[in-house]
Amino acid sequence: MTRGKFITLEGVEGVGKSTNLELISGLVKSGGHNVLVTREPGGTTLGERVRNILLDKEEHGMTPMAELLLMFAARAQHVEEVIKPALARGTWVVCDRFTDSSYAYQGGGRQLGSEAVAKLEHQVLGGFRPDAVIILDLDVQTGLQRASKVAEADRFESEEQAFFERVRTAFINRSSEPGYHLVDAARSLNDVQADITLIIKALFK
Ligand code: TYD
Repeated sequence: MTRGKFITLEGVEGVGKSTNLELISGLVKSGGHNVLVTREPGGTTLGERVRNILLDKEEHGMTPMAELLLMFAARAQHVEEVIKPALARGTWVVCDRFTDSSYAYQGGGRQLGSEAVAKLEHQVLGGFRPDAVIILDLDVQTGLQRASKVAEADRFESEEQAFFERVRTAFINRSSEPGYHLVDAARSLNDVQADITLIIKALFK
């Protein structure tokens, strides 16, 4: 049985992750693979409970390190309970955010730095990482305007613009590594989806 591939979709709020998650899962299916779509923080009952704490605006006193540890607590459960077993069955996994969001939001946005995140990544995940990371990139102001139309702001979305500028910069800095794809999401949906389609089709080879 061939192992499935693990694809993650990343970016600052309002870059169009939801629409493109659907595209990716459709492409994977049409390539003849079973697909599981999941998200972080979340993806398990424990993870979804941790997510509620993380997004709750009442938790305004949460320290950056507590936030980082909760992200990785949810991730530890998600990887062992859901992601690795699916990949082992040959199912492809498409995840809305993963470790790169911790580098961007906690490392960059909260200014914990990438070393603090790298240490936990090593301890919790060992060498486990996505086969492909797609980062949708868009200027922060446009993204926040789009996001604010969709739902009431959660604890992260209530941050000021400078926070999201740091998040965006951290994502861009990570995108030079192998397996990373930075997609300019300021263009038409057609152009964005054409790029994503090429990235996914290359994974079939
Ligand atoms: P998400 O549901 O993707 O939010 P949205 O669709 O509004 O962009 O993710 C929830 C929030 O969690 C999002 O603001 C980013 C944040 N987050 C982190 O700060 N660190 C992480 O490691 C992850 C996975 C998410």
